Amino acid sequence: EKVVLAYSGGLDTSVILKWLLEQGYEVFAYMADIGQDEDFQAAEQKALKIGASKVFIEDMKKEFVTDYIFPVFKSNTVYEGRYLLGTAIARPIIARKQIEIAKQVGARYVSHGATGKGNDQVRFELSYYALNPGIKVIAPWKNPDFLNAFQGRSDLLAYAEKHGIPTKQTAAKPYSEDDNLLHISHEAGILEDPGAVCDESIYCRTVSPEKAPDTPTRITIEFKNGIPVKVKNLENGTEKTDALDLFLYLNQLGSENGIGRLDMVENRFVGIKSRGVYETPGGTILHEAHKDIEGIAMDREVMRLRDMLAPRLGELVYYGFWFSPEMEFLMAAIDKSQELIDGEVTLKLFKGVAYPISRTSPSSLYNQNLSSMDITGGYNQEDAEGFIRVNAIRLMAHRDITGRN
Ligand code: ARG
Ligand code: SIN
Repeated sequence: EKVVLAYSGGLDTSVILKWLLEQGYEVFAYMADIGQDEDFQAAEQKALKIGASKVFIEDMKKEFVTDYIFPVFKSNTVYEGRYLLGTAIARPIIARKQIEIAKQVGARYVSHGATGKGNDQVRFELSYYALNPGIKVIAPWKNPDFLNAFQGRSDLLAYAEKHGIPTKQTAAKPYSEDDNLLHISHEAGILEDPGAVCDESIYCRTVSPEKAPDTPTRITIEFKNGIPVKVKNLENGTEKTDALDLFLYLNQLGSENGIGRLDMVENRFVGIKSRGVYETPGGTILHEAHKDIEGIAMDREVMRLRDMLAPRLGELVYYGFWFSPEMEFLMAAIDKSQELIDGEVTLKLFKGVAYPISRTSPSSLYNQNLSSMDITGGYNQEDAEGFIRVNAIRLMAHRDITGRN
């Protein structure tokens, strides 16, 4: 039997690869390049050495930006009001290609290295089943035999040693990371105590805001239908228009200016609370800029409705329901809401903050004649008197009932 394993190159999935071979499977290792900091050549050699029949390395960076990151950022969604979903958004793209490869090589099985306590298992497996109802999933971290054999990291290391699986010379970090174009997460291990301050040395994508440059960087982001189509650095004239280049550039600017750090305790789908430290430099800039262009170009009631849907959309992404009818429904609504979200936002990047300072839009709904405090006109201010009186009817009735002494 053939199995396609989502392989990371790390200790866990290397042991899983060998273990699957020992169970009698033919293993195809698959690595999705979504911008993580990884030596893919070395990982490929390692997987082949362990015994993989073939290693698939798929460059999906551009697709990750255009088909996953940008669509979600159109909704402004953040999980539990804070988390920009850097890991969650990446799971469906990884799963989709894995299912494609399984079809290509004729595998009935797919496998992953996520634990039974986390969100990732749910995201991977829901995606697998949604894309191929007949697929069979091998999740070693939920297999009693595997769990029995590997009770801790030392068991994994001993097994790797015994089977000649190369383990990195440097000691593994005492916490868990997940890395892609959108973010890097740091969790578990020494970060498990939410009362303990995350050491500065753990951050690797952003300088600390204190150490960021003392002069601001001003940039302009141009949007078309809610999607960034151009970034211009006003300090040196650098311009990026290609989706991937543009996002990488936002990452660079965010990183240099200490933007996008988040340290929070969140609720996992399985009901466990978990502490995570995230660095989302480019995503944070994009998020701020996008909200700002909507301020000028989006209708108020459309915005109210979209803002009601956004938390739900974030939950769907976080919980792993990317490939679901409700997600299609919400994304259609979000796309509709973005049809007039065009224009340019200028932001000041400075010591951890991406601060919008000006914006213009060809579809601007802003009317200076109406909003000005200096100009009368365009609006009959006497109308406001009746507007307020009618709105006060309820309030007065309520006061009449409750305010009696
Ligand atoms: N808590 C975050 C999330 O659920 C990050 C998960 C990181 N995953 C990992 N395998 N290290 O989206
Ligand atoms: C894992 O459990 O594999 C990582 C954490 C998570 O998925 O939430």
